[in-house]
Amino acid sequence: MEERKKVIFSGIQPSGDLTLGNYLGALKNWVNLQDSYDCYFCVVDLHAITVRQEPKDLRRRTLEILSIYIAAGIDPEKNTLFIQSHVPAHSEASWLLTCSSYMGELSRMTQFKDKSQNMGDSINAGLFVYPVLMASDILLYNTDLVPVGSDQKQHLELARDLAERFNHLYSPTFTVPEPYIPKSGAKIMDLQDPTKKMSKSSQNPNAYILIMDPPETIRKKISRTVTDSLGVINYTDDQPGIKNLINILSAIKDISPEEVVSLYKGKGYAEFKRDVAEAIIEELEPLQSKVKELMNNKEYLESIYKRGAEKANYVSMKTLRKMQKKIGFIPR
Ligand code: AMP
Ligand code: TRP
Repeated sequence: MEERKKVIFSGIQPSGDLTLGNYLGALKNWVNLQDSYDCYFCVVDLHAITVRQEPKDLRRRTLEILSIYIAAGIDPEKNTLFIQSHVPAHSEASWLLTCSSYMGELSRMTQFKDKSQNMGDSINAGLFVYPVLMASDILLYNTDLVPVGSDQKQHLELARDLAERFNHLYSPTFTVPEPYIPKSGAKIMDLQDPTKKMSKSSQNPNAYILIMDPPETIRKKISRTVTDSLGVINYTDDQPGIKNLINILSAIKDISPEEVVSLYKGKGYAEFKRDVAEAIIEELEPLQSKVKELMNNKEYLESIYKRGAEKANYVSMKTLRKMQKKIGFIPR
């Protein structure tokens, strides 16, 4: 019998244009993992509506993210690429798991705390149960490994807790997933405030690099990166701006931060920034032209996401049926 390949699941929300953080923290690693695992890569549109989305932007971004997956090198012939809302088991499993999640544990999620700040009484309940939907995404496919940036670590802990709770309450049902967090790209920081993570929802466009930013914009944004007045390129928390640029270069070139430091010994910030900008451009330019090509071929994209949804529906439905049966629902 052929040995079962381990399963990977990951997703990105179409809630804003993708940043270099998404690319280095998530996507680039998916590309490296695809040959050794059975991979599901999802565009998580159900997650995106936890904040208000303009329908036409949501439509464009959903297809653009799918195009970015493919353009980044994820082979749609070998992996399952799909759109979350095309697979109803995610929403259904999410309800079942919501009923064994605690208000306390959900209130402790730092992403919820951050996102619900300044929202007063109008915090939508979706934002609160969002991590349960994420757990459903993962558990429905009996996922072994979840490659994400370090900001998702806490959500993954919850997915593990929910899996164990269900397995214990009924009988072994879910694989308990492990996080896979990259070394250098795990947390790319805001270019204007390197104590915050780079986020597509930032108000200041100089704070992030978008995957689709043209070369001139990338050069400008990198040259304006906030650094310090020490003038030496060192990998230390005392120089968070420089540390972030080192992480970016190290993740792109696939070399260690220490190697970057020794390459730039005795060199100035201007030269370093110039090289970082060129490395980003070199990495993103081929991807960008592929994305533009794919966005002009909606039929091809449709064939990919339809095929992906078929496979995802088949696998997730089997798990959902198991859950329903164990809970005590009458089989249909
Ligand atoms: P999101 O944009 O929140 O849907 O995140 C999609 C993926 O990108 C997740 O795996 C995140 O952990 C990752 N990610 C988002 N922002 C960053 C960042 N600044 N640095 C590293 N990874 C990130
Ligand atoms: N919550 C994740 C984020 O904001 C996106 C996501 C949703 C996800 N479902 C997932 C990531 C399942 C990994 C696995 O980044």
